[in-house]
Amino acid sequence: MSAIKEVEEIIPVSVEPREKLLVIKWDDGRQSLYPYIYLRDNCPSIRHRNGQKLIETATLRLSVHPETILPQLPEGIHIKWDDGHDSYYPAAWLQQHDLSPAAVQSRREHRKLENVLTQWDASIQAALPKATYRDIVADQGTLHHWLGYVHQYGFAVLQEVPPEENKVLDVIGLFGYTRETNYGKLFDVKTVVNPNNLAYTNLGISPHTDNPYRDPVPTLQLLHCLRSSAFGGDTILVDGRKIALTLKDRSPLYYELLTRTMVTFRFEDNSNLLEYTGPILLCHPNGDFRAIRFNNRSIQPVELSAAEALVFYEAYMTLAAMLEEPQYQVRFRMEAGDLYIVDNERVLHARSAFDDIGGERWLQGAYADRDGLISTWKTGIKNQ
Ligand SMILES: [Fe+2]
Repeated sequence: MSAIKEVEEIIPVSVEPREKLLVIKWDDGRQSLYPYIYLRDNCPSIRHRNGQKLIETATLRLSVHPETILPQLPEGIHIKWDDGHDSYYPAAWLQQHDLSPAAVQSRREHRKLENVLTQWDASIQAALPKATYRDIVADQGTLHHWLGYVHQYGFAVLQEVPPEENKVLDVIGLFGYTRETNYGKLFDVKTVVNPNNLAYTNLGISPHTDNPYRDPVPTLQLLHCLRSSAFGGDTILVDGRKIALTLKDRSPLYYELLTRTMVTFRFEDNSNLLEYTGPILLCHPNGDFRAIRFNNRSIQPVELSAAEALVFYEAYMTLAAMLEEPQYQVRFRMEAGDLYIVDNERVLHARSAFDDIGGERWLQGAYADRDGLISTWKTGIKNQ
């Protein structure tokens, strides 16, 4: 991250109160505007020593106004408010909270550089983001890199994980907590009689995200291979972010349709009825891609007019076809001891059919929360 340009320190040279905001001029000629309500709400002194704000939003007055302003330049500004509160704003704080569009944009860019998301396709096959279990247990730096891969690429491989039952939970324990679901703390993926999920058969499973019928959806999925002597059953991963943004380029109309058409995912067995309704592609309010939910096994018949359904299917099937294109897919065979982790809101996983006669294929899976992993990646301390 050495490429990140440090924010240059500038010095406030004058303060001018206006009706609803304060204008500060800096020594580089720029000026910044600070609404009084913004300054009062974010008074740096009204915080617990743990850093949390102590101001109750409902107690603030929108019309709050300085009674006196004491510039102590270049160090900072003292404000006595008309509600009796005293605030002090150091110059560095004012610079860090500058609301000018250029400053806000610059801070966003800075955060982006620190939070790189790399889109990938089949070409990443030659250099999969991976580590060994021994190394991430023994070395904090290696663990940090491995967790960073999950953030950056939406997946990572871990090798030489002892092929023992429950070991996948130990891996989760290195960065966070298990997300327990109706499948239990962990689930076994092997062929069973009368399965409640096609995962427990030897059929091929096309690229999908897990549990789209849950709200909130499990954000991380891990699969650990304990036995692998069956023929077939390759693992396939696809970057849903790459696919979604490629679709957005090629066919903005289809992309837009998939971001606003509500579909329902549903799972039902003897003891569960789980349903979620929302779009297949989820966006932030600013239009940035946020997540994908895609699962041909649990999606329900769409409830649209016939004309809408025809257009929806054009978009939906275009997306499905892209997910099947080998140019976007990473494909590998999991041997006993291999594990992968995916961001279940970004990377889709699949497996090819396998022959379970004369061979065995046994994986154990579990879910966890992405925010805990990101926290451990950023702090080096497992979230408590
Ligand atoms: Fe799955």
